[in-house]
Amino acid sequence: MSRIIVLVGSPRKNGNTDILAKSFVEGAKIHNEVEIISVVDYKINPCKGCNACRKENNNICVQSDDMNLVYDKLKNADILVIASPVYFYGISAQLKSLIDRLHNPIRNDFAISKLGLILVGADVLDELFDSIIVQYDLIRKYFGLEDIGRVLVRGAEAKGDVYKTDGVREAFELGRRLK
Ligand SMILES: Cc1cc2nc3c(=O)[nH]c(=O)nc-3n(C[C@H](O)[C@H](O)[C@H](O)COP(=O)(O)O)c2cc1C
Repeated sequence: MSRIIVLVGSPRKNGNTDILAKSFVEGAKIHNEVEIISVVDYKINPCKGCNACRKENNNICVQSDDMNLVYDKLKNADILVIASPVYFYGISAQLKSLIDRLHNPIRNDFAISKLGLILVGADVLDELFDSIIVQYDLIRKYFGLEDIGRVLVRGAEAKGDVYKTDGVREAFELGRRLK
């Protein structure tokens, strides 16, 4: 049994990213503890780049916002799954803000050893996910994290379009395989 956290990066509630993340959770909860952290439910400011957390502030961010709740949850996770809509070939700004706040050395207390990726975009281009995957793999390698797999869904623009694809089943299967 692993403890899994899914970071959901869409500001659109009940949209395609939410649907995929929930399907992943349905599969993953068969053998694991799973929790979703959705960026819309948390007030998380972008990193100020002051580096105080790395120096005089002893891992404490100068910004007191909901990121403190996220740090506490991440301390108890073994597997982290990043779920995001494609925004201009990147992840959403809201999710990027949350990830940038992991510049804080508090991350050294985390026990996360595996990473997964769920992405959805409106276009059907072959290269739709390339830039995000490069970043995902670089970060994964930098922190020595194992890849649990990816679900990459093209051609889903309006809420619920993802149901017309194989993505919902693939997300469930990705979760179900985890122990
Ligand atoms: C600001 C913004 C930028 C977007 N950029 C892209 C893009 O570069 N490529 C693409 O295929 N879709 C793009 N989309 C479409 C979304 O990725 C797509 O509608 C997705 O299904 C939204 O997921 P959600 O329902 O979880 O919010 C963009 C949407 C928004 C709002």
